[in-house]
Amino acid sequence: MNAFAPAPLAELPTPALLIDRDRLVRNIEEMSALAASAGVRLRPHFKASKCLDVARLQLDHGAIGFTCATAAEVTALLEAGIRDLVWAHQPVGPAKVDFAVRAGVPVAVDSVEVARPLAEAARAAGRRQPYLIEVDTGLGRAGVAPEDALALAAELAALPSLELRGVLTHEGHLMTYLGDRPGMDKAGTLVGEVLAGVAAELRAAGHPCEIVSVGSTPGATTAPFVPGVTEARAGTYVFYDSNQVALGTAGLSRTALTVLTRVVSTPRGGVAIVDAGLKAMSSDASVNGSGFGLVVDRPSLTFAKANEEHGYLTGEGVDALRVGDLLRILPNHGCGVVNMWSRAHVVEGDTAVARWPITGRH
Ligand SMILES: Cc1ncc(COP(=O)(O)O)c(C=O)c1O
Repeated sequence: MNAFAPAPLAELPTPALLIDRDRLVRNIEEMSALAASAGVRLRPHFKASKCLDVARLQLDHGAIGFTCATAAEVTALLEAGIRDLVWAHQPVGPAKVDFAVRAGVPVAVDSVEVARPLAEAARAAGRRQPYLIEVDTGLGRAGVAPEDALALAAELAALPSLELRGVLTHEGHLMTYLGDRPGMDKAGTLVGEVLAGVAAELRAAGHPCEIVSVGSTPGATTAPFVPGVTEARAGTYVFYDSNQVALGTAGLSRTALTVLTRVVSTPRGGVAIVDAGLKAMSSDASVNGSGFGLVVDRPSLTFAKANEEHGYLTGEGVDALRVGDLLRILPNHGCGVVNMWSRAHVVEGDTAVARWPITGRH
């Protein structure tokens, strides 16, 4: 039950994390329709919201389950009865291995070193541990090189108590195609082709490969459309952020997450201090190097600097700001900002209508 009494934004204590409900629902509807038109299942990344209310909306609109980065995210979803999960991270170290085997959710594996303790723990527990081979299709993070995936699959198949479910990749390198949408789209298609090629190679060698999973917001219009890809794992799209706007994956009117802040000091000409600092905005940089977030109400201002609880606004029009003025800041990277908060206010127009907990943060 929502015990929250609706309130005008001006009555909220600041800083406050705001979710625009209409925009959120529209983003969810559109990504579900996009995945359906690609003929793939949608398994959004939960790290983007860490909010069960958002997750339920995604499920209502056809998501099959969720992707997680951390054990805390997996736990939050399992405790809410949401069981179709992929833990897209290598569970390394005894505590994580034990958790993975108890949770029984598919995990990412990109080496025998990761797989062996998992296999041993699964055998000791009398279980089979599902896993996906993580393939590096260009990000240069975790993941086996595409040309080495078959050899790895053969080595892993020799280990007991493991069950190969498929392959996954995260095409995070698409974030580097600032100002080059054709290049980004070409790279996204290539990601799908490379991963589908790896899957075909594994199947030809007799390995099961039911899931072929790509995942990112900038790649959502390309990689899932490649024949052979079965699953898309975009996450950031629920809210979008200023980085996605800079990349051109969404317009400003689609962004659903802002931080409400107040001017608390105008100590000298040329600067205004607000009560949203690093602990409200995170220190995630902008892809185009433009400060700590976008001042959506006054785009001529720059969020130039931030301390823990103070933000410094500069730029044209800053001297017109008065102590007490309310402003909304669009984060550079929504996922990092969500992780700073334990709750968000849901807004319709200028009214806060609900308060949703952010769970699964640690
Ligand atoms: C493994 C994995 N899958 C999916 C995603 C979602 O991508 P995006 O944040 O671009 O929506 C991420 C993002 O970091 C990821 O790491």
